[in-house]
Amino acid sequence: MSRAKIATLHVAFFTLGAIAAPAIAAPDWSKVPAKKITLFFPGTASLEWTLLGSDHSGGRALRNKENCAGCHDKEAADIGQKVVSGALKALEAAPIKGKPGSIPISVQATHDKTNLYVRVQWKDPKMTTGKKIDQKNEVKLAMMVDAGKVLFGPEGGCWATCHHDLRSMPDVDPNAAKHPKAKELDIRSNGPTKYLRESRTELELKNAPRGGWNKLKPDAEIAKALKDGQFLDMMQFRSAAPPRKGYVLDARRLKEAPGIAEGKREGDTWTVTFTRKLATGEAGDHVIEAGKTYTVGFAIHNDYSDWRYHHVSLDYKLALDNPKVDINAVKQ
Ligand code: HEC
Repeated sequence: MSRAKIATLHVAFFTLGAIAAPAIAAPDWSKVPAKKITLFFPGTASLEWTLLGSDHSGGRALRNKENCAGCHDKEAADIGQKVVSGALKALEAAPIKGKPGSIPISVQATHDKTNLYVRVQWKDPKMTTGKKIDQKNEVKLAMMVDAGKVLFGPEGGCWATCHHDLRSMPDVDPNAAKHPKAKELDIRSNGPTKYLRESRTELELKNAPRGGWNKLKPDAEIAKALKDGQFLDMMQFRSAAPPRKGYVLDARRLKEAPGIAEGKREGDTWTVTFTRKLATGEAGDHVIEAGKTYTVGFAIHNDYSDWRYHHVSLDYKLALDNPKVDINAVKQ
């Protein structure tokens, strides 16, 4: 056989292999139970707002380690409706016409030896605001994972990262972009991104400006927190751009990660699947392992929205092969 022919055969063989492999690895979703979760429009309900008793009746309980979903799971749709309708002025001073109060999603998770797979489905709400804050992406879906080492992570999920002085929040500093670390922390003219208490020396809960975006701890302490697992792991699907992955600690640090999320709309239903290694070996990725319980939260930016104008979930528990949690990733 000529050399050229052998080369052609090899190409054909490897191409076939590459096409066949994902088909075998894809999970059988028909075997995986689905957890229904209601995402709701939170307005400006930051961590500072939820912790302060005079703002939020649940503040003291939250500080005593009671979790948001324990009190609010069943009423998430009602809360969202109150916020978008303007009935809760403290959380949305300028209600946005056409914004749905809530979006119910269905979440499934499974794993094999290598990967965790999470599939999220929802019906696209028909209401539209007619505004495009994100010019490109009609839809974004994010998932954050807490491994139990972050203040208010186990009780609040995403709320651990949400502050009164972030982009589009009430106490954002209009001069934040002049901070010496603005570029590194992705601080734009409209303000900073999510961060954790662990990365700041203090957090002002009561008096404006609430939060602590400019009270950064020294680099060495932040590096140590990252090493110690004090971060929220994050993955994001974008409908018109590559997916991203990363973490939240001193800021939301995301980079493009082709293949980590895939999604499409069929009819009026969106289906997004995250596929990530259980152990990536990378800083800013939690190792997902049996015997541990993780707190997860989801957020949808629909209708070309951005910043705080998303629908979010309360805190839900995820674990591998544990029927007691909200989202049980059963092995396949
Ligand atoms: C111990 C129970 C409890 C916990 C834990 C709790 N809350 Fe609340 N929350 C309440 C109560 C009580 C109210 C007032 C509701 C009312 O007046 O109808 C409230 C009100 C709210 C509201 C305004 C909605 C409304 O109807 O007034 C939001 C938003 C909210 N909570 C979010 C959260 C979030 C987010 C967390 C976790 C970070 C949380 N809560 C934790 C009990 C709790």
